[in-house]
Amino acid sequence: MNLLIELVALGVLAALIIYVSFLFFTTLRSSRLIAEVAQAEQRFFQTRVAEITAKSGYEREKNEFSWSGFRKFEVARKEPEGGGICSFYLRPHDNRNLPPFEPGQYLTFRLGIPGERKPIMRCYSLSDSPKHEYYRVSIKAVPPPRDKPDVPPGLSSNFFHNEISEGTILDVRAPGGHFFLDTSKHTPVVLIGGGIGLTPVMSMLNLIVESGSRRETHFFYGVRNADEHVMKEHLENLAAEHENVHMHICYSNPSDDDVRGKDYQYAERVSVELFKKVLPSNNFEYYFCGPPPMMNSLFEGLREWGVPEEHINYEAFGPATVKKKKEADAAVGSGTTEVAAAGFDVEFTKSGRKVPWNADIGSILDFAEENDIDIDFGCRAGNCGTCITAIKSGEVDYLSEPGEKPEAGSCLACVAIPKGPIVLDA
Ligand SMILES: Cc1cc2nc3c(=O)[nH]c(=O)nc-3n(C[C@H](O)[C@H](O)[C@H](O)COP(=O)(O)OP(=O)(O)OC[C@H]3O[C@@H](n4cnc5c(N)ncnc54)[C@H](O)[C@@H]3O)c2cc1C
Ligand code: FES
Repeated sequence: MNLLIELVALGVLAALIIYVSFLFFTTLRSSRLIAEVAQAEQRFFQTRVAEITAKSGYEREKNEFSWSGFRKFEVARKEPEGGGICSFYLRPHDNRNLPPFEPGQYLTFRLGIPGERKPIMRCYSLSDSPKHEYYRVSIKAVPPPRDKPDVPPGLSSNFFHNEISEGTILDVRAPGGHFFLDTSKHTPVVLIGGGIGLTPVMSMLNLIVESGSRRETHFFYGVRNADEHVMKEHLENLAAEHENVHMHICYSNPSDDDVRGKDYQYAERVSVELFKKVLPSNNFEYYFCGPPPMMNSLFEGLREWGVPEEHINYEAFGPATVKKKKEADAAVGSGTTEVAAAGFDVEFTKSGRKVPWNADIGSILDFAEENDIDIDFGCRAGNCGTCITAIKSGEVDYLSEPGEKPEAGSCLACVAIPKGPIVLDA
């Protein structure tokens, strides 16, 4: 009997020990879990605080150091990059700090070129991440078109290459433009540069790595061959030093000396077909800049691949070809063409001309040129403000969002189309 009682007591004791241990370990596990959750929350909180602090610091510095109109900059360094491209490092002549900018934005230059009756305006993308000390632009000397070898080469780009040297003072507008990387996001990105279109995406890539972001980044760079492949060592180092950066160099026409696997990875143009082979999915945000055929094929290809339009970001260095097509399609739906088909006139008062509008020609600037009416232009992409034209009566739509909205009562002729009858001071 005693033995039985002892056995039962032992059994109860064992059960108690098991129960207490269970409670102990469960509590321990939950407290570990609680600690882990608390740590994760703390990390999230710290990251958000750092992001908010950085953002408010950005806004404060931007407001404090930005400028309106033109500011004098001195060329502190001029560095040939190869491939007909030269980088210019610019320091403010007043020695005041530089405002930060969004990676992908550009500077607008006003150049007094001897022999030109008016200042020449041109935009150049900032090709490095924001720095306190300098801005950098990288400019390709533009030759005459292949089918017109006798016309003069590009005015501004060759002026930069041939006439601008260290110590030259330049008039520069503050960084602007809507094509930039959203640095508040951590979503994976694909950055694509074709030829000189490398510059804005280079700024984005530099900022990603310099900020310590772990953002997954696929970088595609398309050129003909090694002769055009600029900033090669820098790009190779970034890929070697940052696990999140995946470099894809495409040569469309490699020479015999170019080594696949070393100089470049793909002997083809950058294309959506290549993305399908290389990327794990289409689930990225895309940023691209390059020659018009590349831009068009990427834009259409990405849409067909099911990439939502809000994930496709691009910039044209010349007339906004992609945007034009896209917006023109949208305009058909909005009834703009119905107005055009109904017929109305565009009146140019300075030139004393009244011409029936033809929507097929393109923008008001294209239309004016077609009719031998002179409107000054710079970028032809709604960025530099050179083509600003006063509207005496009537309204306009925009084929693409202008970089800087013009004042009420005027329009940027290079990207504007009339909504109906219009009278312009041109
Ligand atoms: C937002 C933005 C960012 C940009 N960023 C960069 C950048 O980072 N780097 C860069 O290098 N460029 C950039 N550009 C392009 C740059 O602004 C200029 O468009 C480019 O340098 C060419 O300008 P240009 O004055 O040299 O050539 P233009 O004088 O405008 O000439 C353009 C072409 O026309 C030809 N031409 C001249 N006369 C005639 C004629 N009578 N008939 C037919 N053709 C003729 C020229 O030979 C040349 O091929 C950017 C453009 C924009 C809009
Ligand atoms: S030409 Fe630059 S805004 Fe129109």
